[in-house]
Amino acid sequence: MTNEKLPGINQFNLSGRAAIITGGSKGLGLAMAAGLASAGANVMLVNRNADEGAAAAEQLSIDFGIEAISFAADITDQAQTEAMVQAAMTAFGRIDILINSAGINIRGPIDEVTPDDFRQVMDVNINGTWLCCRAVTPIMKQAGGGKIINLASTLGLVGLANRTPYTASKGAVVQMTRGLGLELAPFNINVNAICPGPFLTEMNLSIAHTDEAKNFVVGATALGRWAELREIQGAAIFLASDAATYMVGSMLTVDGGWTAR
Ligand SMILES: NC(=O)c1ccc[n+]([C@@H]2O[C@H](COP(=O)([O-])OP(=O)(O)OC[C@H]3O[C@@H](n4cnc5c(N)ncnc54)[C@H](OP(=O)(O)O)[C@@H]3O)[C@@H](O)[C@H]2O)c1
Repeated sequence: MTNEKLPGINQFNLSGRAAIITGGSKGLGLAMAAGLASAGANVMLVNRNADEGAAAAEQLSIDFGIEAISFAADITDQAQTEAMVQAAMTAFGRIDILINSAGINIRGPIDEVTPDDFRQVMDVNINGTWLCCRAVTPIMKQAGGGKIINLASTLGLVGLANRTPYTASKGAVVQMTRGLGLELAPFNINVNAICPGPFLTEMNLSIAHTDEAKNFVVGATALGRWAELREIQGAAIFLASDAATYMVGSMLTVDGGWTAR
């Protein structure tokens, strides 16, 4: 067998594909949406703040010449996740890719984090992710396949003090990804997760300036630095593409070596 017949880089081409990216208005979601758009995909950005979503989508259309739209929805509401899928079908006539990037973090010691804080984190990170997977699954089954990419975290794989809601929720996303990956593999739907390390997004702005956070990032990662937003794009493009058809329930770490220790 020679390499000549293998598709190589062409497998990463997403032209004509349609993607929903929750949490797509900013941070990692927007960076991944830009990555997919640069590979040719049309994208729908989903978040609660309609103005921010619309502005981000408009910029992607200008930057990449693809169709980028936004849809305002709270992913913790089942009806809104179903409306999200309907809106994408109306706009694109297909949904090839779902990236579940919407997520929140509420930090603190267990005696300071309230039960309501805990429920909120679970509701967005676990329930919301599950509802989006659930809403898109019938469409992908009917189409004969698709790609679902969940945003877990290094903190779904290892622990960290004062993060019980977040670590618990991301551990659940890891297991949801494995279970759903097995369940949907027979339908050619590849369900995988990305486990990012520390990226300097709005989620981390409140702690980023502290010595504790700076020292932690230097100590925990082999690279000794925060990740750049562009460094999430390759993982997203890969898992969204034909190059990932044999990936099932995988945790793709993009963490500067944090979990390699
Ligand atoms: N940044 C990191 O270092 C890091 C590391 C590991 C994993 N992650 C994970 O990566 C994902 C993205 O994180 P990020 O840093 O990009 O966060 P971010 O900058 O804070 O962005 C969060 C996004 O989620 C949306 N969102 C939040 N709650 C929502 C809801 N209920 N319904 C719909 N959209 C909602 C936000 O928009 P609205 O507020 O307008 O709704 C925003 O678009 C998260 O799942 C996070 O846990 C991040």
